Amino acid sequence: MTWTRHTRLNTALTGGRPDRPPVWFMRQAGRYLPEYNAVRSGISFLDLCRNPELACEVTRQPVDRFDLDAAIVFSDILVVPEAMGVPVAFESGHGPLLSRPVRTRADVDALIRPDVADALPTIPATLKLFRALRPEVPILGFAGAPFTLLCYMVEGHGSKDWQAAKSLLFSDPTTAQALLDLLADVVGDFLQAQVDAGAAGVQLFDTWAGALSTEDYERWALPAAQRALARVKGAPRIYYTKDTAPFLHLVKQTGADVIGLDWRQDIKRARAELGDTPIQGNMDPLALYAPPADITRRVNAILDAGGGAGHVFNLGHGVLPTTPITGVEAMIAAAKAWQPKASL
Ligand code: CP3
Repeated sequence: MTWTRHTRLNTALTGGRPDRPPVWFMRQAGRYLPEYNAVRSGISFLDLCRNPELACEVTRQPVDRFDLDAAIVFSDILVVPEAMGVPVAFESGHGPLLSRPVRTRADVDALIRPDVADALPTIPATLKLFRALRPEVPILGFAGAPFTLLCYMVEGHGSKDWQAAKSLLFSDPTTAQALLDLLADVVGDFLQAQVDAGAAGVQLFDTWAGALSTEDYERWALPAAQRALARVKGAPRIYYTKDTAPFLHLVKQTGADVIGLDWRQDIKRARAELGDTPIQGNMDPLALYAPPADITRRVNAILDAGGGAGHVFNLGHGVLPTTPITGVEAMIAAAKAWQPKASL
C-alpha cells in the first residue's frame, strides 16, 4: 500500500497500523513561527480567526515548513462563547478576557443559542479553502468541550484553580447544568459543521477537566462531553484532557474514538486502561527545549510505548510561543524516522 497523509492519519485514528504514526501537534500554528508573527502583526488574533484566507494561510504554515501529516484549522475555542453573546478579547500577554462573565441563571438565559451555520461560518470556510488548496493534507476541526468553555465563561479569564467556575457547580447546580447542556448542543453542532466541511477528524479540547475531582468529573464534565460528541457523525472524534490520569477510565466513557493524553500519562498504563481505544500524544512541550539527542530519545520512548498502531504522535499540550524551532524539527525528524522494534 502507498501511504498518503490521509490514509496514515485515518488508519491511526481508527486503531490500525500505518507505515509510521502520523505527526502533528497542538498549537502548531502560532507565535513560535516567525511567518505566523508576520501575518499576526497586521491583524488582531480574533480577526485572524474570522478571516478564512489569512486563517488558511497560517493553518498551512507549519504543514509546509515541517511537512506534517495533518493540519488543524486555525481558530480558537473561545469563538463559541463569542457567538453566544459573550464578548471575548485577547490582551497581548494576558490571555483571554471575557468581560461579561456568566454567573447567574439570568446570565445563562440571556445567552444566544446560535445556529452555527449562521453564527460561525468562517471556520468551515477556512476548512474548505484549505481542502481546495492542499487536498493531499488532512485537516482537523476542533472545539472547546462544554466544561472547559464553562470555565472561561464563568471565570471570565484563565485561572489555575477555577474558583468561580467550580463554585457555580456546587452553589447553583441547576444553572451550571443548564449552561453545560446548552454548550454541549452548540459545540456538537459546531463540530458536525466542521465534519460537513470536510474535516478528517475533530478534536474536543477539555483542557481544564483535570481541575475536577473524580466524582465531579463524572457528574459534570463527562456527561457534557458525551452529549457533545454524540451529536457528531462521519469522522473520528478525539477527546483531549489534561491532568486526568486519576480517572482515565471515566475519560474513556465519553465515547470518543481517540483519547488525547497529556505528558503526565504513562502510555503503557494508559493503554492498559483504554484497551483498544486509539491514543494521541504525549510529549511534554517543555522538552522541546532539550538538546536534539534527548528529544530523539523521548520521541522514541513514546512511540515504542505506543507500539505503532492506533497512535497519533503529538505533544501533550500546545507548543509554547518561545519554543526553539530546532527542538520542533528534532521532534518531527525523530517521529518520522521511528520504526517499530522487530519483536513487536
Ligand atoms: O492547534 C492549533 O494550531 C490550532 C489553533 C488553536 C489555537 N487555540 C490558536 C491560538 C487551538 C486548537 C486553540 C485551542 C485553545 N484555545 C485551547 C485548548 C487547548 C489548550 O491549549 O489548552 C484553549 C484553552 C484556548 C484559549 C486560549 N486562546 C488561550 C489560553 C490563549 C493564550 C493566550 C496567550 O496570549 O498566550 C489563546 C490564544 C491563542 N489561541 C493563540 C493562538 C495561536 C495566540 C494568540 C496570538 O497570536 O496572540
